[in-house]
Amino acid sequence: MATWRDVMIPGGKHPWHFFSASPEIPTLQVSSRAAPAERQRELLDGLLAEQPVIAPKFLYDAQGCALYSAITQLEEYYPVRTEAALFTRYREEIASYMPRRSQWVDLGCSDGGKSWAWVEAVGAARYVGVDIAEEWLQLALREGRRRCPGVDTLGIVADFTRPLELQAVKAAARKLPPVFFYPGSSIGNFTPGDTLHFLQSIQQHLGEHGQLLISVDGLHEPEMLQAAYDDALGVTAAFNRNVLRVVNRELDATFDPALFRHHAVFNADESRIEMCLEARETHTVRLGRQRRRFYAGDSIVTEYAYKYSGEAFNALLEVAGFGNIRRWHNADRSYHVFLAGVRKLS
Ligand code: AVI
Repeated sequence: MATWRDVMIPGGKHPWHFFSASPEIPTLQVSSRAAPAERQRELLDGLLAEQPVIAPKFLYDAQGCALYSAITQLEEYYPVRTEAALFTRYREEIASYMPRRSQWVDLGCSDGGKSWAWVEAVGAARYVGVDIAEEWLQLALREGRRRCPGVDTLGIVADFTRPLELQAVKAAARKLPPVFFYPGSSIGNFTPGDTLHFLQSIQQHLGEHGQLLISVDGLHEPEMLQAAYDDALGVTAAFNRNVLRVVNRELDATFDPALFRHHAVFNADESRIEMCLEARETHTVRLGRQRRRFYAGDSIVTEYAYKYSGEAFNALLEVAGFGNIRRWHNADRSYHVFLAGVRKLS
């Protein structure tokens, strides 16, 4: 069995861990990951707050990832299909604006499945998978080696709720300009303030010729959004309620998922879907050594999914320091793909 060993990079802010390399086990680095005590603190603070909240990253344990994969297959969940059609239609055109011999930085890569066609189309020299889940990274890197032989592969464990600091990408940026890839409209799950910070931190990795390829879900009829986040089969409800099992494990808590109802509603003023869990009846939950009473109707916020007009997101990219912004969208302009580069100083 391979073992972890911790290595401090001299002068570096973060401890970096290297997985011992073998032909079967891809090399992984750890950029940012919360220690169990920090995760517990974060969960506890959120659950004891006046408006209880569980950060969306806790939705994605192994069961949550499987349920999310199932969501992406649902008839009602339009973003995946829409994005795939846009990528297929415009891939060659978009790739023609990208640097050759780049490093393809796949943010939130999961199994890497959305990247291989791009890696091929742009002739990337290096694939860098970045994800919070090591299991996904192992899978993505193995798949990358199989699908794109000859392309150098690297996996980096990173928690996107912390400042993004990918030293390995920065160090190679002069020779291999990075193309950051953030598909799936995952950016919508950040609050607007965190979105800006995250975009700025990507921008700071670009060097002279780097780029960001990002997709963003746009504005839709509320009914369509409602159905996408509260599907008839109840897959999204199971995905949402599963987070309570994650909390039980992490906090030694006593949530009964059956006592909470999945609720998803579009808040037009904030332009976001609000996903929460609503207590069906009044009861008390033990949270480790603490307790919290939930009254019938009380809710725990588990995820926001912001929806942007093309213009609003374009403006956000500009504020974050990007330039040379190009945009593609579907026929009704309800899903956008942006390619943004470095702003040239005039
Ligand atoms: C991962 N993320 C882009 C999904 C979304 O649409 O906000 C997560 C999701 N939550 C419920 N359904 C899908």
